[in-house]
Formats: sequence, C-alpha cells, structure tokens
Amino acid sequence: MNHTLTRPNESLVSSSLLEQLSSAGQQHLLRFWGELSDDSRRELVQQLSCVDWDQIGKLAESKSSSQASCAVTRPVPPNRVVRTVRTSQERDQHDIARALGAEVLSAGRVAVILVAGGQGTRLGFPQPKGMYPIGPVTGKSLFQVLAEKVVATSHRYQTTIPYLVMTSDSTHEATVKWFAENGYFGLDPVDVYFFQQGCLPVVDSQTGKILLADKGRVCMSADGHGGVLSAIKRAGLFEELRSRGVDFLFYHQVDNPLVRVCDPAFLGYHVLHESEASTKVVAKRAATEKVGVLVEIDGRTEIIEYSDLPADLSSACNADGSLQFWAGNTAIHIFNRSFLEFVAAEGGELPWHAAQKKTPFVDDRGQLVQPSYENGLKFERFIFDALPLADHALIVETERAEEFAPLKGQEGESSPASVKRCMVEGAIEWLKAAGLQVPNGVPIEISPLAALGPDDLIGLPADELRSELPVYIAAKTDVNYFEVPPSVEQAYPRTVPR
Ligand code: UD1
Repeated sequence: MNHTLTRPNESLVSSSLLEQLSSAGQQHLLRFWGELSDDSRRELVQQLSCVDWDQIGKLAESKSSSQASCAVTRPVPPNRVVRTVRTSQERDQHDIARALGAEVLSAGRVAVILVAGGQGTRLGFPQPKGMYPIGPVTGKSLFQVLAEKVVATSHRYQTTIPYLVMTSDSTHEATVKWFAENGYFGLDPVDVYFFQQGCLPVVDSQTGKILLADKGRVCMSADGHGGVLSAIKRAGLFEELRSRGVDFLFYHQVDNPLVRVCDPAFLGYHVLHESEASTKVVAKRAATEKVGVLVEIDGRTEIIEYSDLPADLSSACNADGSLQFWAGNTAIHIFNRSFLEFVAAEGGELPWHAAQKKTPFVDDRGQLVQPSYENGLKFERFIFDALPLADHALIVETERAEEFAPLKGQEGESSPASVKRCMVEGAIEWLKAAGLQVPNGVPIEISPLAALGPDDLIGLPADELRSELPVYIAAKTDVNYFEVPPSVEQAYPRTVPR
C-alpha cells in the first residue's frame, strides 16, 4: 500500500513533524487522520512529538544493539564474591559490615529505588504488579510489604529514607492512587517520589514500521528497568538526592517480598569494598533456572540474562559437579549515586535489547488484528548493563530462602502459592531462631513493622502462637493504616501484637 501522506492542513501537525515522519518512512501513522476527532488528533501529535526518530530508526534496523559479549570474549565465573558466612572470621567480617551499614543508614545517606513499571499480566492480574495481594495471612499487597520494610528500617535507624518508586505509563496512576488511599503505608509522603519511566514505539518485526494500537494511537511499550536512569535524571531526582545527602541507592524489584530492603550488612560490604555497583546473588537451583548469571568478562563484572547465556556455559560444571556459573541475579543492587549520575550523564548509554512480542495492531484497513505470532519488536534497557561500567563492582551471596522469592507467573516456583509458602517458611525460621515454636501447617505472617529479623521476635508471648488458626504478628501501629480485605479478615482471628 502506498502511504503517501494526504497532507493534514490543520496547524496541529507541524511541518517539521511531517518531514520527520516522511524521512523515517513512518507516514502511515497519519493514515487515519481524516477520521479522527480534534482531541484524538492532538493526542496523536503529542505522542509522535515524543518519539526519537533517529533512535527508533536505528533500533528497528539493527533489531538490537545488545552487547554480544559472549561471542567476543568468553565469560568466566566471577571471583570477587562475598560468600555466605561459614567461618568465624567471616562472621566477624559480617558483623563489621553490618555495623558500617547501620552507620550509613543512621547518617541518612541511603535512599531506595523500587522499580514497579510492570503489570500483573502474567499473573492474570490486570493491575500494577505491586498491588498484588501477597501476604499469606493478611493479603497485604507487594507494595505494602515492601514499603513497611522501609518504614521499619527508618524507625530502627532513626533516619529518613527517600523512597523512589518508578512507575510506567500503564502503572503510574493506579500506583499513586493506591499509595494515597492506603496512607502511604506509613511512609511520610514527603519522602516518596513517584516518577515515570519512558516508553518507545513498538515496530513491526518484518518491516520496521511503527504499529498503531488504534487509528489515533501508536503502540508504545516501556523502555525497560534500565530506563530508570534517564527517568531519574528527567525528574530532577539526582539533584534532590544530592541535596538530601544521599550517597547510596538500594535498588530492588517489586516482585520479591522477601527482599531485605536496605540490608545493613550488604550496605556495609558495599562501602568496605569501595564498590560502585553491588549485586546480591543466590546459588542457582539448576542450570536451566531463569535468572541472569553473574560473570566476569575482561576483568569486569557483568550479568548475562539466562536467555543470552550459551547452553554449554550455563550447564558447565566444576569437578565436584557444582555449576561453574552458579551466581544467580536477584536483581537486588546497591549503587553509588555518583556512579549512576555518571552513567546517566553519558546519555544513559546502556545498550538496547529487542524482544519479540505478540502485539495487537490496527491494519491498513483500520481493522484491529490479534496476531497469532510475535509480530512486534519492543526495545528495552536493563539496569544491570551498568555493572561493567563500574571500576569496582561487588557480588554478595545470600541464602535464597531468606531473601529471594520473586512472583512471576501463575504456575510453578514463582507462582503466588509458592511465594506465599516461602514467606510462611521464612516466618517459621525466624520464630525458631527466636526460640519460639508454631504448630506445623499453620499459615503465619510477620509484619515488617513488628520484626525485621528473628532478634526482634525474642520475648513474643509463646502461648499466643499455639494456635490452630492462621497467625499474624503485627506491630501495634499496624491497625492505623492497615486495611484488611473482608475475605481475609475472617482468616486471621489471631493477631499477636508485638
Ligand atoms: C529479572 C532479571 C533477571 C533476574 C530476575 C530476578 C531482567 C532482564 N532480568 O528477570 O536477570 O534474575 O529478574 O527476579 O531484568 N520493570 C519495570 N519496567 C520495565 C520492565 C521491568 O519497572 O520496563 C520491573 C518490573 O516491574 C519487575 C522487574 O522490573 O518488577 C523485572 O522485570 P521482568 O521483566 O519481570 O524480569 P524477569 O524476566 O523476571
């Protein structure tokens, strides 16, 4: 079909936009102009004005500029790793690190970045993933569980912790509303910064033409969690963090309710090792586990996504049968603010990764098509591509059961049932470590406001725990802003106050 543009005579479309469309070979985007209302025309022009035509052209041509590190240099297993504590010497080091982390927290030098641009689509949950009710007893949302960890940590260290929540076009409004409706889960609103990541048009994987979602709207998709850097910069948050005296950013994903937000030991190791970018890892369960893998290439730490790691490397074993590339990415990082500023100042020069996705679109005749194959190419940046830019990077191992149970899909090890089980098992371990027993098979949930670790549970009334009913260990302050869904309320008559 010939896409010669019937030149829209309205002043709405500037001649420079028309020229850009024409030289980018994307004139078809105005094909239905004559059928659009004035409002729709304005919205379309607004969308098109935000597109970086050079960039999208280059991406569509190259499909992806992602680093082909594996092909160039063979990665080797990382050797600068702080392993989990096994010896008394390591215990001493851990204690030193924890004390140092506590110091930087108390000094107000730490902020948190939560990346929450994803929807719960793979969970069959048509809302921001952070709103998913994950509390095994209470049904608290992921947002609440995570935010309460920040509240509890700031109380513990008598400090304020700026909380940077990255949303996307599809999650922004609902997320901001959810926090506001729930009293910011106890956070002080002045410490909470919502900022939106960018988005890019989705192109047809065969032709490179941008797809239309409907006659007056381009198909857009979020620019990946690596978009966090340009989004922070755009929102002026680097300046804000600097003015608040923040030097370290604790970064994590919305899908992992077990994360130890602002873990002082992790912070302490980061500082002790003069790292600019640190990553928590867990030992992979199996060669095929779908987690990124930490490697070293030319002496630099990198993460290779599971889908990019050649099979011979992912299954390579040591003499004792253990995996050579064992260190799985939990997506928990600490970055120096100055390091992220440096990466962002270079224009957010992280590479782009292309992913093929089934993308519904409007065809030449204006009909909505639900494709049966992956017809669309979307482009994303990954935050972990910043790691090799760091002169000093650090890897810290942790126990999976203590810190890593990401919620990904409806079935299997990352399903809601399995994540809730991990939360319950974690709670039972904490209680046991505090010298308390709970009957087998009883769901139990510990509010982050009641305890951030087993030590905080010592002295809990043991009798109260001998219940056949689900148990929720709450902080007294919980009730002030904690809204229990009705179906859940009946499920936990047993609230043990801390
Ligand atoms: C990710 C990591 C993987 C790691 C695993 C740990 C990537 C490419 N891979 O895999 O190495 O082992 O987590 O759980 O990241 N997000 C945004 N905006 C976006 C895209 C994602 O905010 O544009 C957020 C999502 O809300 C989500 C998180 O980033 O919380 C992870 O994204 P997802 O696509 O689910 O990555 P995984 O494939 O699970």
